[in-house]
Amino acid sequence: MALKRSDRSYLASFMVMDVMAKAAELEEMNRSIMHLEVGQPSTGAPKAASDAIVAALSNPASHGYTLSTGMTPLRRGIARHYKRWYDLDIDPERVMVTVGSSMGFAMAFLTCFDAGERIAMTNPGYSAYRNLMKSVGLECVDVPARSAQNWVPRLEDLEALSPRPDGLILASPSNPTGVVLKPEELAAIAKWCDANGVRLISDEIYHGITFGVDHSCALETSSSAIVVNSFSKYFSMTGHRVGWMIVPEDLVDPLDRLTQNCVISVPTLSQIAATAAITDEHALSELAGHVDRYRINRDILLDHLPAKFLGNVAPAEGAFYIYADTSAISNDSVILADRLLNEANVATTPGADFDTEEGHLAIRLSFAGASEEMKQAAENITAWVRNNT
Ligand SMILES: Cc1ncc(COP(=O)(O)O)c(C=O)c1O
Repeated sequence: MALKRSDRSYLASFMVMDVMAKAAELEEMNRSIMHLEVGQPSTGAPKAASDAIVAALSNPASHGYTLSTGMTPLRRGIARHYKRWYDLDIDPERVMVTVGSSMGFAMAFLTCFDAGERIAMTNPGYSAYRNLMKSVGLECVDVPARSAQNWVPRLEDLEALSPRPDGLILASPSNPTGVVLKPEELAAIAKWCDANGVRLISDEIYHGITFGVDHSCALETSSSAIVVNSFSKYFSMTGHRVGWMIVPEDLVDPLDRLTQNCVISVPTLSQIAATAAITDEHALSELAGHVDRYRINRDILLDHLPAKFLGNVAPAEGAFYIYADTSAISNDSVILADRLLNEANVATTPGADFDTEEGHLAIRLSFAGASEEMKQAAENITAWVRNNT
């Protein structure tokens, strides 16, 4: 007799992963697919990070555990990064190294909230927040951040939530819209959270990838916020699975214990690579070159895709996404993404992955890849729209 599964194990899948799997099947049949589905840089880790791994290989300590909070040089390097980028003095003791930012969210949820509590997130927003909340027994509450709200969550919509949520998780720059909150917008939200006893979790994983707009850190305004970040995006190291959190002092000890019990420590060679990436000055200029490429890629897509496909597109000011309003073309983004893959050889992500109500009318394009790939994708989508709509 089959034994029961927990209700929390019934999670929605990441649609982008389903698209990736279908794209891989087509590639096995020798089809050449443009990858605009996954949010992952096509570049590798900075040279200093790869060199650091090679140099560390012969040291037995590089193959062992580290402290659960993370290696001291890495925690110090991350703390210094806050001085360099935001002029903030962060005590390295408040830095917790995590397995990607993904583990940071799970840790933050488990440490800050009890089962049944309510956490707000934007709609559209990063769907893993919603799924993770379900898996740890939290209730997800939506705050609209669509074109009607200028793509940013409004204080009046947060005020209107009843009962008041216990937490708010927010990403700026946003995935999927690429919208960046103005420093005063983030500050106003952080102040509202502080004043109302709402724990702010600020997902700053796309910091560093902005195009001519200012972005700020939640810690510039709030001392109770948790900031989550990662080496995946700006640092171009998705596969190393290293992220971090900056947390208020009283959360360091509970998070340390949770990490000890869940993963013991973050992979050591990856921490060594991350330390080099965040401390080496050449690495930063290498990474700035990637951001220049993302901007070029964004412009290729915005300049060459048909207006009918882009629709009322969100301003792609940061991260590496275009959130196209495809309502003039299709009312089912899953079918549209499938057709673009099969008929135009372009892998994209259905908006339904990010917006539970209106995502059927949008498609997310990632421009983290090579510029040639963007040009070809724009050509293929343009021809497809011409022939099919
Ligand atoms: C907004 C956002 N947060 C977090 C993540 C997770 O990244 P990682 O676990 O690689 O740090 C992603 C990945 O795409 C993301 O888009």
